[in-house]
Formats: sequence, structure tokens, C-alpha cells
Amino acid sequence: MSLKDKVIVITGAASGIGLATTRHFATLGAKLSLADIQPGPLSALEEELTSRGIQVLTRVVDVSSRTAVDSWINDTVAKFGKLDGAANIAGAIGNQHNSASVTEIDDDDWDFVFSVNTKGLMYCLRAQVPHMNSGGSIVNAASISGLVGSKNNMAYVASKHAVVGMTRALAKEVGDRNIRVNCFCPGPIETPMLRKAAEIRGGEGDWSFLALGRLGEVKEVPPLIEFLISPASSFITGTAMSIDGGWNC
Ligand SMILES: NC(=O)c1ccc[n+]([C@@H]2O[C@H](COP(=O)([O-])OP(=O)(O)OC[C@H]3O[C@@H](n4cnc5c(N)ncnc54)[C@H](O)[C@@H]3O)[C@@H](O)[C@H]2O)c1
Repeated sequence: MSLKDKVIVITGAASGIGLATTRHFATLGAKLSLADIQPGPLSALEEELTSRGIQVLTRVVDVSSRTAVDSWINDTVAKFGKLDGAANIAGAIGNQHNSASVTEIDDDDWDFVFSVNTKGLMYCLRAQVPHMNSGGSIVNAASISGLVGSKNNMAYVASKHAVVGMTRALAKEVGDRNIRVNCFCPGPIETPMLRKAAEIRGGEGDWSFLALGRLGEVKEVPPLIEFLISPASSFITGTAMSIDGGWNC
């Protein structure tokens, strides 16, 4: 029970990596405050966790809305009395994912990707840090696209490079308050987002070039997030940790 009685907020909790992380953290004794834009899956998740005796708050929050994020974090602290950790996992791909050359980039698509992945993350961090009065640990979802480029994908690649930069900048800023800030950089993980990316691209990816030669399973990611958010990684901050089957090696 490495997170026993820790109060942890999770964005993107209704699907994919966020959902798997939520369920994993529930087995570790954490008290959870969950945000997502999908009300149906979120309320099903609340029911599931409550029936298992987990203390949970769920809230429909669009992370690109400052007021929604602020109100969710304030309500979390009002309910649980403190904030120990944050897994900022919400993220989005635009309609042009992997499919727009530099001359084809659509302004609205660019703004959408940045509003969720970059500005939305900033809203979360800005709301979370002031409540970590006894130290804390923050884990952000970056991507292999935060470390290397891929063609026809400038908006997503730039937004995830920004996540790595935001992680490093904040780690330097709040380390003296015993708040650690790290991010993880997944390669292809089997989730609804990966399937949407395949639809936009018009075909499944060929992952044989990865050292491990296969897609990642969603259950393979939460143990890394647990490690980064828990005291097991007490001397690690500002890092961007790959979980990519050997893409970037
Ligand atoms: N799956 C992959 O291959 C992969 C690879 C690299 C990085 N990532 C990153 O990992 C994170 C999780 O991705 P996933 O694959 O689980 O995707 P997913 O689509 O399954 O889950 C993302 C969740 O974020 C929520 N979300 C989207 N926009 C939001 C917003 N504005 N406010 C609040 N919630 C919002 C969605 O509703 C969804 O529940 C993302 O940040 C993604 O960029 C995923």
C-alpha cells in the first residue's frame, strides 16, 4: 500500500492510461480525486470505486478551463484536507494528428492541441502546487513525442516537448519545498487515443522497429507512475522517463 492515505488527483481518469492508473492507485490505499471530460465513464468509475470502499471525488473538468480546474482542486482540498500528489494524464490529439505537413497546419487544430496538452497542464500545475504544503509529487504525461520528432505532427510533438520543459522548469522552482515533478514518455500504448490516431492516419502503425517489437499494454504504465509519484523515487525530480518499448534507445 505504497500510497496509503495519500490524496492524489488524476486528470484523464476516464480512459486509457488515466483509467488504468486510477484503478492501480485504488489498490494502493490512495484517496482519489478524478477529473475528465467524459461524464458517463467518470460516474461509472465513481460507482465502481465507491463500492470497493475507496474514498473518491469525481468531477467533469475540461483542463483547458481555468475556472473548472481551480474549482476542482479547491473542492478536492476541502473534501480531503490536503493534496499529496498529482498525475496529470489528460491529453489530446488533434484531427490532423500525424497527417498535416507544415504548410497544411490548421490554426484551430493547433490551438486545440495546445489548449489541452500545454495550457491545460499549466492550469493544473498552477492550481495544485500551492496546496502541497508538506511537499508533494507530480507526474505529468508527456510522450515519446516530447523527446523526438515525427513528421506531419508538429502540433502534438511541440505540445509534448512543452510538457517535458514545463516539468523541468517546475522541478527547479519547487524542489526546495520538497515537491518533485517528473514526467513519463510513452511510446505506443494500446488505448482509445492510439486507435483514434490510427483512424486519422488511415492505418495501423507498424511497431516492429521498436526494440521490443510490439505495442505497449495499458497495464504496463501505472507501475511507472506509481514509482514516480511515491517515495520510492525520492531523489528523482525533473526527469522525463521513457516507457516506449525501446523506441528512443
Ligand atoms: N496511448 C499512447 O500511445 C500514448 C503515447 C504517448 C503519450 N500518451 C499520452 O498519455 C496520456 C493518456 O493518453 P491515453 O492513450 O490514455 O488516451 P485516452 O484518450 O485513452 O485518454 C485520455 C483521457 O483524457 C481525457 N481528456 C481529453 N481531453 C481532456 C480535457 N480537455 N480535460 C480533461 N480530460 C480530458 C479523455 O476524455 C480521456 O479520458 C495523454 O496525455 C497522451 O498524450 C499516450
